[in-house]
Amino acid sequence: MSTLILNIKQLLQAHESNVTILKGEEMKTLSIIEDAYVYIDHDTIIEFGKMEDYRPIEADITIDAAGKIVLPSWCDSHSHIVYAGDRTSEFVDRINGLSYEEIANKGGGILNSAKVLQDTSEDELFEQSIKRLNELIAMGTGAVEIKTGYGLTVEAELKMLRVIKRIKQESLAVIIPTLLAAHAIPAEYKSKKQEYIKLIIEELIPKASQLNIVHYIDVFCEKGYFNLKETEAILAAAKAYNLQPKIHVNQFNILGGIALGVEYNALSVDHLEELNDKDIEALKGSNTIPVALPGCSYFLGIPYTKARDIIDAGLPLAIATDYNPGSAPSGNMNFIVSSACVKMKMTPEEAINAATINGAYAMGISNMYGSITRGKKANLLITKPMNHYSEIPYGFAHNPIEQVIINGQLLN
Ligand code: NIG
Ligand code: FE
Repeated sequence: MSTLILNIKQLLQAHESNVTILKGEEMKTLSIIEDAYVYIDHDTIIEFGKMEDYRPIEADITIDAAGKIVLPSWCDSHSHIVYAGDRTSEFVDRINGLSYEEIANKGGGILNSAKVLQDTSEDELFEQSIKRLNELIAMGTGAVEIKTGYGLTVEAELKMLRVIKRIKQESLAVIIPTLLAAHAIPAEYKSKKQEYIKLIIEELIPKASQLNIVHYIDVFCEKGYFNLKETEAILAAAKAYNLQPKIHVNQFNILGGIALGVEYNALSVDHLEELNDKDIEALKGSNTIPVALPGCSYFLGIPYTKARDIIDAGLPLAIATDYNPGSAPSGNMNFIVSSACVKMKMTPEEAINAATINGAYAMGISNMYGSITRGKKANLLITKPMNHYSEIPYGFAHNPIEQVIINGQLLN
C-alpha cells in the first residue's frame, strides 16, 4: 500500500538528516516546507519535498491536502491509560475543597483505582483501555507510553502488563510499556513499606522482565510515596534487568529525584511542577530529557513546569498528557500543545517540537518516529484547513485534526 499527499500548505518537522532530539535554541524552529508533498510506501516515509520538485509517482491512495498542514503524529511519552473505572467522585470532592493529598490520605487516589482494577477482569480492562487509546489516535496520537501502577500486587501488575502487551499487538500505534509498581504503597503494606519494596525488587521486577515487553522502570518519587533512598533501591535493582528509569519526580516536592535520575541514566524525568536551579544544573550535559505534563497542572491546579527556565538553559523539553483517572483524565495532545503555549509560555514551534520529536526521544523511539525524514515510520497528521500551524495551539480545546496516518495506514 502506498500513499501520496500532495499540495500540503505547510509540511512541519521535515528533516533531511535523522534528528533525534532538539535542545534549547534548536526548539525555536520547526523545519518547514511550504507547498509540499510526501510519499509513503507501506509503513515508511520514502520521499518528500516541494511541489515544484514533485515528479509523478504511482500511488494506491492520493490525498489532496491543499490548505492543510501535515506533521508527524503526536508522541505522548507519559500516560496511564490502562485503568479501570473513573474517579469522578473524587473530582467532585476536589471541587468542594479537598486536595489531591487529602483525598489520597482518605484511601482514595491511586489506591482507589488499584482496588477497582484488581476486581476488573483482564478482558474488561483491555476493552476499557483500547477504547481510550482509539480516542487518542483519532485526536492525532501515534505513539504512547503506558505505565502500570494501578495493580499494586504482583498479579495485578502483571495483568496490566499483559493488557498493555495485547494493546501493543492489536493497535497500529506504537506502545511503549513502563513498569510503575512503585506508584503508591498498597493499603496492606501501609505499616511495612519496606516489604512492598522488597516484593517489587525480588519478585515483580524479575517476573515482569520475563514477559519480555518492558524496558523502562518508573517510581513515584514523592513525599508520602517513595523517598530518594527507596527510589534508588528500585532503580538499582531494575538496572540489573536492563530497565532504564523514566521517573515521576518533583510533582509536589523536590526530593532530589532529578539528580538521582541523571545518575541512573534515566531516559526521562517527568512532572517537574516544582523545580530549582540545582535540578536544572543536574540535567545539563545529561542524556535525560525533562517532560512537562501541563494537563496535570490544569486539572489539579498546581504550578505549571517552568518551561522557559528549562529551554532557556539550553535543555530539551518534551510535553505529554499524563492521561490517568486521578490527576489528568484527558489524553488530548492538541490541548497539551495549546496549554504549553498558553500556560508555559512556549512558542508554537517549541510546543510542537516538544510533542513530536522530543516526545519520541522520551520513549526511546526518536530514531524511527517524531519527524518527517526518509526512512522513518509514516505516522502523520493532516489538519483541517488552516492558514498557519499556530492555529493548532491557538484554537485551544478544538480538534484541529482531520486525518491520521498510522504505520502507513490512512485511518479516516
Ligand atoms: O502522574 N503522580 C503520580 N501518578 C499520577 C497520578 C495517578 C493518580 O492520581 O491516579 C500522575 O499524576
Ligand atoms: Fe504520571
